[in-house]
Amino acid sequence: MIPSAVTLVEVGARDGLQNEAQPVPAATKIALVQRLQAAGSREIEVTSFVSPKWVPQMADNAEVLAGIARSEGVRFSVLTPNLKGLEAALAAPRALWPDEVVVFGAASEAFSQRNINCSIAESVERFRPVVAAAHTAGLKVRAAISCALGCPYQGEVTPDAVEQVVRLMKDIGVDHCGIADTIGVGTPRRVQAALERALKHYPLAEVSGHFHDTYGQALANILAALELGVHTFDTSIAGLGGCPYAKGATGNVATEDVVFMLDGMGIATGLDLAALVDTGGWISGLLGRAPVSRAGKALLAKRGLAVAA
Ligand code: HMG
Ligand code: MG
Repeated sequence: MIPSAVTLVEVGARDGLQNEAQPVPAATKIALVQRLQAAGSREIEVTSFVSPKWVPQMADNAEVLAGIARSEGVRFSVLTPNLKGLEAALAAPRALWPDEVVVFGAASEAFSQRNINCSIAESVERFRPVVAAAHTAGLKVRAAISCALGCPYQGEVTPDAVEQVVRLMKDIGVDHCGIADTIGVGTPRRVQAALERALKHYPLAEVSGHFHDTYGQALANILAALELGVHTFDTSIAGLGGCPYAKGATGNVATEDVVFMLDGMGIATGLDLAALVDTGGWISGLLGRAPVSRAGKALLAKRGLAVAA
């Protein structure tokens, strides 16, 4: 049965901005998260503790986390690919710690090498102490499984390959498993096949979908996931983003588009579409472009507001 409520994890501040070529000041990232909280986001992926040489845009991670006044009931997550990243995330006073950390592996060997400079097996060995230390610190651990529907370097990725990584993540104690379509090539039946493999090892509440919208399939894929009962999805305000190690990848499905669809289906998200549209228009304007969100653009046009070229 289709779920009656859905949790959206807002990833615009991390996945959305990590690939932005122009410098985005920490103050803008902080203001973005504040606005998202005000629009009702209760799960926000704020930043990454990765090498600044690899992803310079996230080098201000600690400053951003320290600058946000976290609203009651809001959970923050950050990416931590290794112990160095986790230690950096926990170097701040406890009040500034994230609630959840994300380790990110891949279902494709080629992508693993390009994104985190090691094999899948090596990545899992790197994640093992991160998971243990995060649990000791009282944090939840999510894994993202990139290229679960296809890889920009090696092409097809099978459900077997996805399940193999899911199993490895489960073995090291990861709490939640995100199935990521990094380059947006997945289509509904294939997405269901990948999710079904994750659901063999994790309960419904601990499996999520992370769909980039490169080929315009993300809303259909979310609907396909809802048919399986999956009720957690990553979305990006204004459709911001891409992945620096997946050339041509566009952003995650836009938060506004998903909320428009779910509102129309009577599925609760707790998010305020009008406030999201404002936020999407605001951040897109600062970045000098129109929101990628179709619903965002349509609703701004309906209000008679000009949308940046
Ligand atoms: P490496 O070069 O193999 O690591 O990179 P290393 O351990 O040999 O260290 C090299 C240098 O990086 C050293 O500095 C370390 O101190 C430093 P140096 O001595 O040269 O001055 N370093 C760090 N600095 C800060 N924070 C750290 C850290 N670790 C090492 N945590 C590493 C391995 C994983 C670090 C690197 O490959 C990396 O940072 N990759 C990041 C890739 C990334 O952020 N990709 C985008 C996010 S994933 C994504 O977008 C996909 C997702 O959205 C799902 C989907 O769509 O598929 C989640
Ligand atoms: Mg992504």
